[in-house]
Amino acid sequence: MSDHARNDSSAPDHEESTRRYYETSDVDAFYDAVWGGEDIHIGVYAHPQEAIANASHRTVQHAADRIADLLGPDATVLDLGSGYGGSARALAERFGCRVVALDLSEEHNRRHRTANIRHGLDGLIEVVTGSLNHLPYKAEHFDAVWSLEVLCHVTDRDTALAEAVRVLKPGGALVFSDIMAAEETPAPAVRPALSRLGVQSLATPSFYLQSLSRLGLETDFEDRTADLTTHYARLDEEVRRRKPELRRAISPAYLDDLLTNLPLWTDITRRRLLRWGLFHARRTTARTRP
Ligand SMILES: C[S@@+](CC[C@H](N)C(=O)[O-])C[C@H]1O[C@@H](n2cnc3c(N)ncnc32)[C@H](O)[C@@H]1O
Repeated sequence: MSDHARNDSSAPDHEESTRRYYETSDVDAFYDAVWGGEDIHIGVYAHPQEAIANASHRTVQHAADRIADLLGPDATVLDLGSGYGGSARALAERFGCRVVALDLSEEHNRRHRTANIRHGLDGLIEVVTGSLNHLPYKAEHFDAVWSLEVLCHVTDRDTALAEAVRVLKPGGALVFSDIMAAEETPAPAVRPALSRLGVQSLATPSFYLQSLSRLGLETDFEDRTADLTTHYARLDEEVRRRKPELRRAISPAYLDDLLTNLPLWTDITRRRLLRWGLFHARRTTARTRP
């Protein structure tokens, strides 16, 4: 099920359906209430019953540890698909660095800016509405490019990675996580679970490693698939446990949809049909231009 380079003319349509997905009030209410309202990515769990929001925050700190040598008050990070802004605030708070946070969704960005003001971090974080497929930045501009659980929504991942690398300074780091298929997983085995998110296809770890190698980066992949299994088990448990409360924020139809769909995720993650982990790639030399 590996993904291949494509110049995909359906990308704008797909971006529009992704934006609509995240801006649906039911979807937003689910992410807000169950994922914790700061982060929308897989958690790194200290134990299998840990609060989803705490584990998700640990993912940010864990990824940040990998690039801590690059970050300080003079550094700028580009966060691709910044969502509610949990990563941007954590990075700005911890390192005093600037963050440019780019997301398709104006709704997410409005909420992100409000939270930044509340935390006194709006001076360090610039929130921009746009797509990671067309980065409006000059080459070699950022010390680090960061992206958690966004590339699964992208149809032309080779171009997205090339864009991310283009704006990275020599010596800079690209750090990202993604929900992927295991190398041998047939696409139909995971399609019913993915359909809720409007995700068309998944990459595999080897796709990213090969693509980044072609772009001249040295990459380390930390496989944390066990955390993906725990995360979906936790989501399923939480939605069931908090059903009466969630009924007040989420429509009955969407709640039913979640109660049907989340066990599919629990099943395919337990069967190891999916993979998840953290990529940490360094741009070692100046890019060779054609
Ligand atoms: C699963 S959420 C992750 C949010 C954030 N990275 C986090 O870890 O909390 C995916 C986010 O990616 C954004 N997104 C999806 N496709 C995008 C694209 N082509 N360009 C920019 N943002 C995109 C969505 O709007 C959404 O906010």
